[in-house]
Amino acid sequence: MPRRFSEDTLVVASHNPGKVREIADLLAPFGLRRVVSAGDLGLPEPEETGATFIANADLKARAAATASGHPALADDSGLEVAALNGAPGIYSARWAGPGKDFAVAMERVQTALGNATDRSANFTCALCLAWPDGHAESFEGRVFGDLVWPPQGDKGFGYDPIFRPSGHTLTFAEMEPTAKHAMSHRAAAFRQLVAACFETA
Ligand code: IMP
Repeated sequence: MPRRFSEDTLVVASHNPGKVREIADLLAPFGLRRVVSAGDLGLPEPEETGATFIANADLKARAAATASGHPALADDSGLEVAALNGAPGIYSARWAGPGKDFAVAMERVQTALGNATDRSANFTCALCLAWPDGHAESFEGRVFGDLVWPPQGDKGFGYDPIFRPSGHTLTFAEMEPTAKHAMSHRAAAFRQLVAACFETA
């Protein structure tokens, strides 16, 4: 049986304002008394040394839970491009360089793709909820689609302007946040997290 979340405070183990905003939106229906981010608490950002999304989410959640003394939820996510053998994958943030410039990262993806006819890609999101006593629960969600060029739209964050989910004409950056939240990789992982750890039977 997964452990249920019954505390008052949840730390979102991220320093990425785009992600923190999305996670706060997705958590809103659960009426948590206090949701704070690792950035707000001034917690250090651990080095992401894991080989998988789950491993990186796990190490970020455990670090924030230990440092804060509260349960902590971490997201590790990224864009996986089929013709690039899954790159940038767990290195999605790093492709944006030290300036965290996603115009640069999207350009790198486009350059790497060259004339490839297969432009299919997916986002993956791993979520890990860790408690200060060392217990942790992990979940993974995906959304499939293809890559457009040039980038389109100014909502969302990261690679949203080049990702168009299957069956849709708009990129994630052209959609209203509620539309993205209904179908995203993060929403898919959240549904599992909520069913396991938040929802009352
Ligand atoms: P990390 O999980 O903090 O290592 O970074 C994941 C990176 O993947 C983010 O900085 C974004 O560039 C990208 N990414 C993850 N989720 C999304 C999303 O929902 N939209 C666009 N880009 C995303």
